Amino acid sequence: MNSDNWWPIQNADDIPTPCLLLYPDRIAENLDRMIAWTGNPSLLRPHVKTHKLSEIIKMKLAKGITKFKAATIAECEMVASAGGQDVLLSMQLVGQNLHRFLKLMAAFPDVKFSSIVDDLPHVNWMMQQLVSSSGSLSVFVDLNVGMNRTGIAIGEPAMNLCRHLNRLSLGQKRIKFEGIHAYDGHLGIPDMNELMPKSHSVLESVLQFRDQLLAEKIPVGSIVMSGTPTSHLVAAQRSENIEVSAGTTVLWDFGQPLTCPTLPFLNAAVLMARVVSRPTSDRICLDLGHKAVASEMPHPRVQFLGLEDAIPVIHSEEHLVLQTPKAAEIPIGTVFYGIPKHICPTVALHSHAWIVENNRVINFWRVQARDRVLTI
Ligand SMILES: Cc1ncc(COP(=O)(O)O)c(C=O)c1O
Repeated sequence: MNSDNWWPIQNADDIPTPCLLLYPDRIAENLDRMIAWTGNPSLLRPHVKTHKLSEIIKMKLAKGITKFKAATIAECEMVASAGGQDVLLSMQLVGQNLHRFLKLMAAFPDVKFSSIVDDLPHVNWMMQQLVSSSGSLSVFVDLNVGMNRTGIAIGEPAMNLCRHLNRLSLGQKRIKFEGIHAYDGHLGIPDMNELMPKSHSVLESVLQFRDQLLAEKIPVGSIVMSGTPTSHLVAAQRSENIEVSAGTTVLWDFGQPLTCPTLPFLNAAVLMARVVSRPTSDRICLDLGHKAVASEMPHPRVQFLGLEDAIPVIHSEEHLVLQTPKAAEIPIGTVFYGIPKHICPTVALHSHAWIVENNRVINFWRVQARDRVLTI
């Protein structure tokens, strides 16, 4: 794998812009680095929302990674169609989505599907639906470990929910209690001295909670934890058998190293854009609007390779205007490559990703699970 000048493509003239380029050799290297952390692919449950691509699921499977986390039913279907055997949907099943999920389970009877719950009345509603549709479902309890996005508080509320689930597991068997899901997305802290005690305290609270369940003879199948910033700290606790659910590590971007400067991943996704106009003597306009790069954060949203000093001044649906003293020297049609700040929502903006090997586009992959509905 060449490391200098790995991104430009020799057949750029054949490729329309704006587009997303993916580099499978670098993806493979990132997967190897993830596996090296846990020492065992069975302790990885990577989140697939980062790439939404069945080809990357196949790459993961080939490396022995068999468990996956997903955020949408379309992602679950994409994983199952690609051969994944164990998919956790980390989203509460509300409304029609419960019935869609049951249909998905029926369509892939050999795949182990599970979801998350964090509310007792919601569990009872699910139970009624399952009884009337003769379905059954495996669930993880979603703990709120400080992000305050979803989850139930550790302590009596979560204990009561788990006791209830355990009773249901032993009773009609329509709901099976699988284990604990705890996402610590609030711990994007670059300073390791600050991050380590906070991450350890979350870990301790989750392990204590597990021990309380075990003390009441409530079996805990698995614990699924962490995003990228804490994944190496959680992965280090090998004897606890925690499944690490980092997602961004596979493609990387320029936002992650700002939050996790010590993590060793390679950029494996690049945006390609062209100059479409030079509206003033110190500005160029690229065809990379916010319909081609995630824009939920302030600028800079792209780090352009070879144009690091350019300042973004206008960003609209299909245009990105950069201010640069080099503008006069840059002809219309010039190609620029850039690393997005946030790769996950950027991938979701592209219907296809162009595949680069040895500095040439050789193929494209369809970003299947960017659709909200595949077949179910
Ligand atoms: C529930 C859940 N688990 C895991 C992840 C993966 O985290 P990261 O993007 O830091 O790799 C996310 C990211 O949004 C998430 O929402």
